[in-house]
Amino acid sequence: MRFYATVPMGLEEVSSEEIEELGGRIYSIRKGKGRVFFEGNQELVPKLNFFSRTLERVLILIENTCIDELEDIYTCLKSLDYSFIKPYQSFAIRSLRIGKHDFTSIDISREAGQGVIDSYMLSKGHRLKVNLDNPDVIIRVDLIHDELFVGLDTTGDNALHKRWYRVYNHPAPLNTAIASSMIRLSGWKEGKILLDPMCGGGTIPIEAAMKMRDIPPGKNRKFAYFNFMGKILPDYTEKEIFSPIYGFDRFRKHVDGAIENAKEAGVLDTIQFMKKDFLKVEDFEANFIITNPPYGLRIGKKRIIEELYTGLFERAVNVLKGDSVLVLITPHKGLVEEIIAKLGFTTLDMIPVKYGNLDTTIFKLKI
Ligand SMILES: C[S@@+](CC[C@H](N)C(=O)[O-])C[C@H]1O[C@@H](n2cnc3c(N)ncnc32)[C@H](O)[C@@H]1O
Repeated sequence: MRFYATVPMGLEEVSSEEIEELGGRIYSIRKGKGRVFFEGNQELVPKLNFFSRTLERVLILIENTCIDELEDIYTCLKSLDYSFIKPYQSFAIRSLRIGKHDFTSIDISREAGQGVIDSYMLSKGHRLKVNLDNPDVIIRVDLIHDELFVGLDTTGDNALHKRWYRVYNHPAPLNTAIASSMIRLSGWKEGKILLDPMCGGGTIPIEAAMKMRDIPPGKNRKFAYFNFMGKILPDYTEKEIFSPIYGFDRFRKHVDGAIENAKEAGVLDTIQFMKKDFLKVEDFEANFIITNPPYGLRIGKKRIIEELYTGLFERAVNVLKGDSVLVLITPHKGLVEEIIAKLGFTTLDMIPVKYGNLDTTIFKLKI
C-alpha cells in the first residue's frame, strides 16, 4: 500500500527516520512541503497513528499529481476509485491551499466533492452523502503550489500533534510534533541530562519523558481509521525508566502549568520542573539543552530579545558539559548566528521550519 504523512514543513527528513523505524519504506520526501511518501502494509495505519511522535497525519495515498487550474481538480477527483467508501457512509473533503491561486480552498472542496459524488454515481449508481461535521470518511485534497495531494485520512480532524495531556495552555505552546522532532534531532539518549531552561508549559521535557518511557502519544484518543478498519490498537508496554530531565521557567504560573501537564501525561515522576530565571543560574550541569525561547515579535521587543538570547547562550556555555548539544527553535536566525559565532559554537545542523506563518530555524549546535 502507498501512504503519505503530513509533517511540520522543513522536518520531513526527521519524520522519515521515525516512519522507517516504525516499519514504513520511504520512497519520496517532499522537502519543505511537509509531505513524506512511503510504502508498507495496512498494519502501519494503527502503528503510525498510535506510536509516531513527529507526524501530523497519516493518509492512504489516492493520487499525487500536478494541476494547472481549478477544473483539473474536479477532473482528477472524478477519475479516481472510491470503492473503499460504503454506500451507507458519509464523506467530507478537507482541503488546504498553499501558494498563489485565483481560487480559494472552499472552491477546491466544492470541485473535489462533486468529483467524488460523480465518480461514485458512475461506478455504483449511488449518490454519496456529504457530512461536513461528522463524516465517516475524510478525503484530504491539498494543493501546494501546483502539486495536488489526495489522500484518505486515517487520523481524522484531530491531528496527531494534539496530545491529550495539555490541560494547561501556555500562551505560546510549541507544537508537540516539532518538540519531538527537536528531541530526535538532538540525539539525546536516556542517562544524559536534558534541560529545557525556558520550558513554558513543559512540552519539550514531557515529550522527552514520554519517548524515554515508551508512552504512546496516541493513547486516549480516537482515529478516523476506526470507521473503515475497525478499532484496532497496537499492544504496548510502558517502561519504568527515570533519567534526569529538567524544565525551568521564570514564571511560577508556567511551572505549575507544566507540572499539571506532566501529571496528566503520567511522567511527573520523571521530570523536575523548577521556577528559575535561567539567566541567573550558576551551578547546573546538563548534556543536552533543547529549548523554544520567547520569540518577542511585538514591536519594541528587539533589544530585550537580543539581551535574552545573548544571556541564554552565555549560560548554555557554562551549563553544558561533556559531549553536549544545544537544539533551539527561533525566528531570529541572524541574531543567533551572530551570538554563536562570538561564543564559539559549532553548527551541526540548521533547518528552516515553517511554523504557522512564521519562518523559523532549528539550530543544532555543539560547544
Ligand atoms: C515560547 S515559551 C516556551 C513554550 C513551551 N515550549 C511550551 O510548549 O509551552 C518561552 C518561555 O520562556 C520563559 N522565559 C523567558 N525568559 C526566561 C528566563 N530568563 N528564564 C527562564 N524562563 C524564561 C517564558 O516565561 C516562557 O514561558
